[in-house]
Amino acid sequence: MASIYQSMSDAELAAELERLEAAAQALRDKGLKLDMARGKPSPEQTALSKPMLDLLTSETDLSDGTVLTENYFAPDGLPSARKLAAELLGVDAKNVIVNGSSSLNLMHDLVAHAFALGICGNEPWCRQGRAKFLCPAPGYDRHFTVTAHYGIENIPVPMTPDGPDMDMVERLVETDPQVKGIWCVPKYSNPQGYTYSDETVRRFAALKPAAPDFRIFWDNAYIVHDLYDEGDELLNIFDALAETGNDDLVYEFASTAKVTFPGSGMAFVTASDANMADIRAHFAAVRVCPEKISQFAHVAFLHDAAGVRAHMRKHAAVLRPRFELVERKLSEGLGDLGIATWTHPRGGYFVLFNGPEGSAKAIVALAKELGVTMTGAGATWPYGNDPHDSDIRIAPTFPTLDDLGQALDVFVCAVKLVSARLEASSRA
Ligand SMILES: Cc1ncc(COP(=O)(O)O)c(C=O)c1O
Repeated sequence: MASIYQSMSDAELAAELERLEAAAQALRDKGLKLDMARGKPSPEQTALSKPMLDLLTSETDLSDGTVLTENYFAPDGLPSARKLAAELLGVDAKNVIVNGSSSLNLMHDLVAHAFALGICGNEPWCRQGRAKFLCPAPGYDRHFTVTAHYGIENIPVPMTPDGPDMDMVERLVETDPQVKGIWCVPKYSNPQGYTYSDETVRRFAALKPAAPDFRIFWDNAYIVHDLYDEGDELLNIFDALAETGNDDLVYEFASTAKVTFPGSGMAFVTASDANMADIRAHFAAVRVCPEKISQFAHVAFLHDAAGVRAHMRKHAAVLRPRFELVERKLSEGLGDLGIATWTHPRGGYFVLFNGPEGSAKAIVALAKELGVTMTGAGATWPYGNDPHDSDIRIAPTFPTLDDLGQALDVFVCAVKLVSARLEASSRA
């Protein structure tokens, strides 16, 4: 379908460009300083968890069953915290380690373990030639940074609304022993907000990797982050693995970073018995036990999975108007122009915007010039290389509704002006 600018005569396009340049100048003159870049909860959201800080005093009995929180013990984390994490993930608590405050840190540690020491007795990846990792793209930039940090080759795999292109995943995983892993955000993917279909989850569970030390890094970061009472349903990967008998294929991660406090939540990992034994042995060499006072406070505050869900409904009440504002501003500003599409997530932290080929860098640069910081164009692709230069991640959670509205007006103006300029230069 031709875009509105393509269907204009040269004179109409010149007049439209003049109008858009004037609109941009008016925005530039406002001297705005707004940020739609990173996926952080808003202050209203972190405030929801501050009462957790009142639950511990010097008088609090810190015993968790037989475990004393205030001392060493419990290398897998507090029993009550493991129980809570297991309930959220739908797995057995014996297969959960709650450790530290960052799930990305756990993912990094397991990549480092595989790279330097080897998984479950296999040769370390670093001694097997150049390892490769599959990166559904656009995806989470920090995943790609972890593997790139170790010199592992990041290979983009196209994303669809049902998840990664599974024909390509199967072909690469099942034929190339250098392919050692894949990054997955199966629910409300960052940045699209897609949830993998049951068929995709089953195809993951049925993979027959060429490498015995291939692992799926199943980052369920947005497992409880629904915007609506009726959330997307994700098939439990471990239920699917039970059917295929491929128990050792997956490491699953999640955290309460965006439930309570980013950077001060609790992070967890779960995997098969054999993988957990391997992970435990690794962690035993790294530290005596995890930090547990925060775990204690989290359980005292959230109680159980039902408590987490009730808390997340409060987050949703804060976030829903922001996501709905994105949808409304983009539809009103760009809906009929034939220049852009965007995703319509029902949870998670992002919206993925797709502009004309060759426009994303220019749109982000122009938005910056007009006072709005966006995630860098290309950041959602391995090595920052968006082959179409068309994807832009919108992170609507942090700004106030008022700031977000203004930032979206700027963004819409930047998209239109860059699209019209591109059309004019293609005619020149
Ligand atoms: C997909 C995904 N995984 C992990 C994280 C970071 O989680 P944590 O704070 O637990 O390290 C984020 C944060 O944006 C994310 O989007």
